[in-house]
Amino acid sequence: MSKYRGNPDAIQALVRDTEVHKDTYIDQEIFELEMEHLFANTWVYVGHASQVPNKGDYYTTTVGTEEVVMVRHSDNSVRVLYNRCPHKGVKVAGEVCGNTGKFFRCPYHAWTFKTDGSLLAIPLKKGYENTGFESCEASHGMAPVPNVKVYRDFVFCRLNPGGPSFDEFFGQSLSTLDNMVDRSPEGKLEVAGGVLRYMHNCNWKMLVDNQTDTCHPMVAHESSAGTAVRVWNEAPEGTPKPMAVELFAPFMSPYEFFENMGIRVWENGHGHTGVSDSIHAAYSPVPGYWDQMVAAYGEERAKQILGDTRHNTVYFPNIMVKGPIQTLRLFKPIAANKTLVESWTFRLVGAPDLLLERTTMYNRLINAPTSVVGHDDLEMYERAQEGLHSRGRDWINIARLYDPAEKGQKNIVTNGTNEMQMREQMRAWARFMTESM
Ligand code: FES
Ligand SMILES: [Fe+2]
Repeated sequence: MSKYRGNPDAIQALVRDTEVHKDTYIDQEIFELEMEHLFANTWVYVGHASQVPNKGDYYTTTVGTEEVVMVRHSDNSVRVLYNRCPHKGVKVAGEVCGNTGKFFRCPYHAWTFKTDGSLLAIPLKKGYENTGFESCEASHGMAPVPNVKVYRDFVFCRLNPGGPSFDEFFGQSLSTLDNMVDRSPEGKLEVAGGVLRYMHNCNWKMLVDNQTDTCHPMVAHESSAGTAVRVWNEAPEGTPKPMAVELFAPFMSPYEFFENMGIRVWENGHGHTGVSDSIHAAYSPVPGYWDQMVAAYGEERAKQILGDTRHNTVYFPNIMVKGPIQTLRLFKPIAANKTLVESWTFRLVGAPDLLLERTTMYNRLINAPTSVVGHDDLEMYERAQEGLHSRGRDWINIARLYDPAEKGQKNIVTNGTNEMQMREQMRAWARFMTESM
């Protein structure tokens, strides 16, 4: 018997003020309902327009577990289509990316579709005459995703026709994307440096929670970042500080640092750590960059852009963006206990190459399957995923610095170790899970 399907009250009951029931992380039915409701009612990241620069370029990906293809249409707009042939259901685009020319061609029976999804041609078309084909679903071609928004080249979509508008959903949180783009003297980003894909045997929400979990770095990363710092401390005086040490060392900052850097919590599950300070605030200057920024924006505005060194911005449900280091991490849900983590890096168009080098080094050191930091976290997630099956306890605690007055507030800045962001995510989770039931 299904415990949660069609039972919004049971789902709401999984989220208490300061606790979350373990089923939200381990129950496969909950996972399926997340795909049907949460990932359909929210605006979910698809990809970046720079991945499809030319007409006919496409990129296949998933929104929740829905297979979609993002494609540059002949009018230069970016479209997102369900990757499903209307004939017998075959996935039309089979490669991760490529150029399909003026149309997609299904590999099974060669039906073809324009890059907006509309049906272009069918071999032996005569066979459909007088069959009422025009009123069949298939005559409409590949289905476009109903709501697509390209915001400063970041492509998002909402699968359900109804729901909050893009601006209502993200509100002021878009300022983090703005800041990352504005860091380019030309106001433009490009995906560069490839993507790191890393399979995690844990629930996707563990990754999301971790992004604003500021009480773990100095503990979980002691063996990796801590070792790097110790080795560095033993280096002979006058040794130039390697870029890797500059990137690792802030992970070992004390609790007070994370408390003081602050966290900002917006609505709908979005928020960011690193308000007044952050682990990205003290990187050494890159020669030539400041002058380029001043030339592009003027001194005051350049100072404002580069002075905003936010740490992790969570865009609920499943991405995290780091403006000052130009990375975006996408947590792709696969099953209740399986998540594919993609870490993307961006080039600031027009900025010195050293910035991209720092970005890709950060990604390799922190997020790669071969990283010495990323698997500290993975070890914790997998232990939690197994531990949560225990009969010993049913609830996960998110009470740190809880204040009942926080509910319904928008745009709060508070102590950086406050778990309010996690609570706000779960309040949003309960709402988006049940509003279309
Ligand atoms: S399944 Fe696509 S053309 Fe037949
Ligand atoms: Fe971590």
